[in-house]
Amino acid sequence: MEIKIISRPLLNGHGETLVLGHYEGEAISGELARVNRPLNGQINEVLVSKEFSGKFLETLLLRTTRKNMPRILLLGLGKKGEITQDKIRQAAGKAATTIREAGQSTLAIALSQKQNGISIANFTQAIVEGIILSLYQFDLYKTDCPKPKKEITGITLVMTKASDKPQVARGALLGERIAEAANYARTLCNLPGDVVTPSRLEQEAKSLAESSDLVTVKVLERADVVALGMGAFAGVARGTHEPPKFIILEYKGAPGKPIALVGKSVTFDTGGISLKPADNMEQMKYDMSGGAAVLGAMRVAAQMKWPVHIVGILPATDNMPGGRAIHPGDIVKTLSGKTVEVINTDAEGRLCLADAITYSLRYKPRAIIDLATLTGACVVALGAHAMALYGNDYKLTTAIQKAADDACERVWPMPLWDDYYNQIKSDVADLKNTGGRPGGSITAALFLKQFAGDVPWVHLDIAGVAWNGDKPRPYTPKGSTGAGVRLLIQYLMTQAAQ
Ligand code: BES
Ligand code: MN
Ligand code: ZN
Repeated sequence: MEIKIISRPLLNGHGETLVLGHYEGEAISGELARVNRPLNGQINEVLVSKEFSGKFLETLLLRTTRKNMPRILLLGLGKKGEITQDKIRQAAGKAATTIREAGQSTLAIALSQKQNGISIANFTQAIVEGIILSLYQFDLYKTDCPKPKKEITGITLVMTKASDKPQVARGALLGERIAEAANYARTLCNLPGDVVTPSRLEQEAKSLAESSDLVTVKVLERADVVALGMGAFAGVARGTHEPPKFIILEYKGAPGKPIALVGKSVTFDTGGISLKPADNMEQMKYDMSGGAAVLGAMRVAAQMKWPVHIVGILPATDNMPGGRAIHPGDIVKTLSGKTVEVINTDAEGRLCLADAITYSLRYKPRAIIDLATLTGACVVALGAHAMALYGNDYKLTTAIQKAADDACERVWPMPLWDDYYNQIKSDVADLKNTGGRPGGSITAALFLKQFAGDVPWVHLDIAGVAWNGDKPRPYTPKGSTGAGVRLLIQYLMTQAAQ
């Protein structure tokens, strides 16, 4: 995407479609008033006639007589007092897709001054993020797409005040990188399971390491994880011919203890011997959404060269019912030494994560954050609009909550009381890998907690939010959503600033 930042008069474009936001029920003012006069009252007319009222996400495309700015898109921002950064993201996205549908390839957008206390940098970031996230399409396998494809290739940000340039440039760059990282994660999750294999994730990690001097990568093979004693992760990988990869990425933008990011990276989850039903099983290609989020977030930290130390861990494997697959009743020995009775081979995520969390302790992390499409129970509890948040440390969970609010990726706190522990006690081993139906997301989290020890740890169950199986939402198309990327980046950015 080509992003230009200019401060010349609004109608002096290069043929772009100019987007002008308008609040519902407000009198014509600001940018609108400024273009209304040279357009001989055209804007006022549609407001008076109520052809356009400014309702949230309402759009009206106008044709002007100006050669350098032949089209104007009026964009409804809703009630003035109710504007938020996320609504700006949604509205900018709506404008971009509307303009693409109209067959145009560039757009200009007027940046007004501060909105409801939102800084000009954050305002610009939200606009750019919203546009790039909304334009995402996964059409790699569509051979019947119209050619040439309708594509938006340029955004012009028109400032009211030239002195805003540094903040606008900063917001635009960050917004672009964040949205591109989220789209990158989306593609990894949308690609079929036979394409995004553990080896493909290894390649992705390696190309990230190649792009930055501060990033290194280490990959453990099947024999390595067995030799190290990661019996839980190796146990899951037993059922597949696809070589598992235990991927460790390190970004050293600062000295000191790292933040460990652990992402569930099951590249396809059939359930194993406890085979899943056929309905919706094709979606289980997104069972590596946690790992994709870690890759996306680390990529931005490295691009921005933030002074922060991060270790990213992706225990990548398929979960398949092969001839050597673990059976229900098998007992695995985890890297921590704890033994786990495998009741259900479909509860494979916690087995992989147990060893990954234990492995992360080698880096003496100051915090561990794991993201996982861990349980169907989480989908039942919270649906598609919030991740379940668990943690053992008030300060860390609060920081994650704050990052989630700021990035508008919702999390909701869940209990982690020891009262649930009885459900995951085994008669024959230390733990069992399922806790029954009641509180299924909670018992999964409580299982993971056993491996974090005293280290501040947060677990995000992203099973419900990582996939949009419903209608497209503003800036969230069908399929993978890129969940967790914006949240993690927001958290890393604030950590880097401290
Ligand atoms: N990957 C699934 C969880 C999942 C389900 C993610 C639906 C997204 C949508 C996980 O590995 C799983 O199968 N969990 C089981 C655990 C159960 C056997 C204790 C589940 O939730 O059914
Ligand atoms: Mn499973
Ligand atoms: Zn799974």
